[in-house]
Amino acid sequence: MEKIIISGGQPLNGEIEVSGMKNSAVAVIFACLLVDEKVTLKNVPQILDVDVALQIMERIGCKVSRPCVATVEIDASEAQGGRAPHELTDKMRASYYLLGAELGRFGHARVGMPGGCNFGVRPIDQHIKAFESLGATVNESDDIVEATATRGLKGGNIFFDVVTVGGTMNALIASVLANGNTEIENAAREPHIVDLANFLNTCGANIRGAGTDTIKVNGVEKLHGCAYAIIPDMIEAGTYMVAAAATGGRLRITNVIPKHLESITAKLNEMGVDVAEEDEAVVVSACERLEHINLKTMPYPGYPTDMQPQICVLMCLASGDSRLVEGVWDNRYRYVEELKRMGADITVNGRVAVVSGGKPLHPARVRAVDLRAGAAMVIAALAIKGTSEIEDIRYIERGYDNIVGKLKAVGGQIKKIEVPENLIYEG
Ligand code: EPU
Repeated sequence: MEKIIISGGQPLNGEIEVSGMKNSAVAVIFACLLVDEKVTLKNVPQILDVDVALQIMERIGCKVSRPCVATVEIDASEAQGGRAPHELTDKMRASYYLLGAELGRFGHARVGMPGGCNFGVRPIDQHIKAFESLGATVNESDDIVEATATRGLKGGNIFFDVVTVGGTMNALIASVLANGNTEIENAAREPHIVDLANFLNTCGANIRGAGTDTIKVNGVEKLHGCAYAIIPDMIEAGTYMVAAAATGGRLRITNVIPKHLESITAKLNEMGVDVAEEDEAVVVSACERLEHINLKTMPYPGYPTDMQPQICVLMCLASGDSRLVEGVWDNRYRYVEELKRMGADITVNGRVAVVSGGKPLHPARVRAVDLRAGAAMVIAALAIKGTSEIEDIRYIERGYDNIVGKLKAVGGQIKKIEVPENLIYEG
């Protein structure tokens, strides 16, 4: 078991390079199952979720190699369906993409119910609805989802009842090799949906409209191998933007697409933080006094739920009361108890949190209760003078590529240490 120790109170200054996007990489990796030739993926982040996705691909018969750090080669020509071990699919939410990929490639899928961060009920009914719209029969039993389309999938109309990122991506994955045309309505518009569509189109798929709420897919018979670079991770970039503002520093954050960061930039500007855009970088300069704001998380292009805990830390440091509304998940405030250990004054009522900013914060021993909550703990600890400890950091490592090394290089007093199991904090 490892933990992160941070001596905070120092401004972060310098340059940080952002890695490839977690939520795109995991979908694209499973989508490689549709291609029975070698695919080379570049700008792949080195994170636990990617490691698990690649292990699953190997276990179902794909040849996987990493010729260099951010490059992965996947050859799924000899893959077989229905063999993904539950102890691996259970480790990550994105294993649900295997359902769409196995169904698209083999006409049959058998996958354990996905795991992932716990913030309330995380249903997959919309994914199942999409598969059924393409002609599959789906059964759920004993934590296993089994889907079958005996004569292969057929194009169809899919109308989502809620805007779902995973559902939209799974519908895309399942439909590219289906027989006929598919229309996906009320589709999510996140940049990683466009990235997945661009990847599949580079392999020979025929997808139009990704990035809008109507996506059209003309089924093709076969996909071919390609080389493709994953887009930069907007949530990793946003996390370092907030870290610069929280520590009173100045960071140039490179390998980003500034357009993807607009909602985050807008909220930082509202708090008084300066963000200068370059072609593939943003420069974030902290301000003397952070202003309180109101914010609601929403699907893209709204402010992302995956940046909610991080901006909450900034609200704690701002003057006055901020109002935060979680618009995507039922229960994404578990980290609030941890921030309270550092002196934060936050009242949660359902999906609304009122943050009374400007209260004195102090270092503490806290937990990363999930991935983005863990990032928020890191930011808070960097901002607060004194030594804080963050436990359960495996959550952070699921989604942040070398966070300790990257923050150290810009002046963060941060290290990772091994903790004997009998000294793990249970509070
Ligand atoms: N929903 C349903 N039924 C479904 C699917 C979703 O009711 O079948 C609901 C969910 O309960 C939620 C809302 O729809 O209230 C949106 O869920 P969505 O499907 O968009 O979430 P997801 O695809 O499971 C991805 C990211 C999350 C991110 C959300 C929202 C991956 C692997 N995960 O989850 O990322 O919060 O989109 O943007 O792509 C993270 O990276 O920390 C993370 C949790």
